[in-house]
Amino acid sequence: VVPKALQLDAEEEEVEVGPGKKKVTVFFGTQTGTAEGFAKSLAEEINARYEKAVVKVVDLDDYASLDNQYEEKLKKETLAFFMVATYGDGEPTDNAARFYKWFTEEKERKPWLQQFTYGVFGLGNRQYEHFNKIGKVIDQQLSEQGAKRLVPLGLGDDDQCIEDDFSSWRESVWFELDQLLRDEDDVNTVSTPYTAAILEYRVMIHGPTTAYVEDKYSNVANGNVSYDIHHPCRVNVAIQRELHKPESDRSCIHLEFDISGTGIKYETGDHVGVYADNCDETVEAAAKLLDQPLDLLFSIHTDKDDGTSLGGSLPPPFPGPCTLCTALARYADLLNPPRKAALVALAAYATEPGEAERLKFLSSPHGKDDYSQWIVASQRSLLEVMTEFPSAKPPLGVFFAAVAPRLQPRYYSISSSPRFAPNRVHVTCALVYGPTPSGRIHKGVCSTWMKNTIPLERSSNCSWAPIFIRPSNFKLPSDPSAPIIMVGPGTGLAPFRGFLQERFALKENGAQLGPALLFFGCRNRRMDFIYEDELNNFMDSGVISELILAFSREGLKKEYVQHKMMEKAVQLWNLISKEGYIYVCGDAKGMARDVHRTLHTIVQEQENVRSSEAEAVVKKLQTEGRYLRDVW
Ligand code: 2AM
Repeated sequence: VVPKALQLDAEEEEVEVGPGKKKVTVFFGTQTGTAEGFAKSLAEEINARYEKAVVKVVDLDDYASLDNQYEEKLKKETLAFFMVATYGDGEPTDNAARFYKWFTEEKERKPWLQQFTYGVFGLGNRQYEHFNKIGKVIDQQLSEQGAKRLVPLGLGDDDQCIEDDFSSWRESVWFELDQLLRDEDDVNTVSTPYTAAILEYRVMIHGPTTAYVEDKYSNVANGNVSYDIHHPCRVNVAIQRELHKPESDRSCIHLEFDISGTGIKYETGDHVGVYADNCDETVEAAAKLLDQPLDLLFSIHTDKDDGTSLGGSLPPPFPGPCTLCTALARYADLLNPPRKAALVALAAYATEPGEAERLKFLSSPHGKDDYSQWIVASQRSLLEVMTEFPSAKPPLGVFFAAVAPRLQPRYYSISSSPRFAPNRVHVTCALVYGPTPSGRIHKGVCSTWMKNTIPLERSSNCSWAPIFIRPSNFKLPSDPSAPIIMVGPGTGLAPFRGFLQERFALKENGAQLGPALLFFGCRNRRMDFIYEDELNNFMDSGVISELILAFSREGLKKEYVQHKMMEKAVQLWNLISKEGYIYVCGDAKGMARDVHRTLHTIVQEQENVRSSEAEAVVKKLQTEGRYLRDVW
């Protein structure tokens, strides 16, 4: 039986829905690929279960090229699912941002939504303040506007096991869909757990004389090209230096990418996405576990034309032919804990029965506790897990399709201003390095790469990386005379360094600058006070009016930026009330949450109002764009 084809190509305009058929659309808003994977998995199972269903998987970014087309397109939908992740400070993923903005800001009622039946599964993390905000908002607004909620909102929590959350939400879908889509002769498909499908790429091994495509990144702007996550631009590392002082036992890197001649444009406050390679040690360990030579030249392919739904659903493979070394360095996520789907794939290739059993158990519902303890809580990397199961050596086609996820770009708040450094994108990056509960020393992929880079100033054979700019709304007020308060401990200082460079340039051009307070915190002045001289210079030149420092490990008591904010409560509130702006950058789970509470307390005390009123004031600041956060 040749399964019905699954539509994945959003370019292909309308899905043919014949008589007696029913169109089902599965939208996804994905940042790292998880929501996309869930969308495809859901679509495949709907496709397999219901003869009647004509299923299409749609990247929200590709749904309509213009905002005014959303309505017209949505009017033609009657049954749809949304797999949407929440990212950063309760924000939609990049590919869902435009749709989300239209959907939430278009205030006109949408009576036609009464024809619309939907289900939402959100992907988020309970550690964050705005847990699954995007899923919740889409679900609620659709319902409020009269659309019919097929199943209760699913709340995936990546802090635990999001695959399990997805599996159980999906179970709730079948009963309802049976009512809508089941035909008499549909086989009663036994639900396959999400993890059951093992995808496989077709692999071709090439001879040593084949020309290989080690990279196909462009670095020439040709008018039509605009760089983005799918089309990054290759740029050299111009400068790299350590920001911590010699007494520090940690590391923080200042890096400058040379963007001259590339056509890359950015604004102060934007983010840069960086595709870094895994380090040699990691790559070598992976090749050993796969039992393949690093110089093996191969290419991988999806079987789009063979008519199978599985082949059609594979994500595009990476460019080839390339060596195994390049493929492992550039495309494979080897250091995150493996998903359950990866364990299933490994189990299928384990030649030791005991190993296969254990892998199957870990990925099964019975092994839930072991999985969350032994894998998630212990932060066991994919490589560590493979080391424990040496007989499980999947072929490359399975390894790259089903075991190792695609290595994702890492995002950094740009720490420069184009007015000050037009040909450079500066990054300020703390090295991620430390023991995990299992005793492995975890080295963050991108920060390790940045630590090891060779800049152009040291060698013409310098390091390079594919990068792209992600615009943000973390922007200085348009009026430079408006007061600003910046709160950025540690590498949270990054975007503020850009702000200060911008203010410096504005001042040079004769602008009148308003007051600017900078709250910066670090452990110890002698160790990790990054950019100390620059900040002092900005003070001297009047770009900063007050630099307020909190050192957390100098005295007996921890001093944090929020403690300093409390000490300055009167002045702080005075500035904010005078049309001032407050900006917070850094760690979302700890610092930004505590700073938020402090701001709330300051409002309550200074305005002498009840907690709920203070909350409304803070909310208003946020909606007016005068309280902005760049947090991770
Ligand atoms: P600590 O590591 O001594 O706890 C930059 O990382 C600075 O932020 C460090 O001085 C760090 O202090 C501090 N920091 C850690 N948790 C914080 C929190 N919840 N609020 C504010 N600052 C915090």
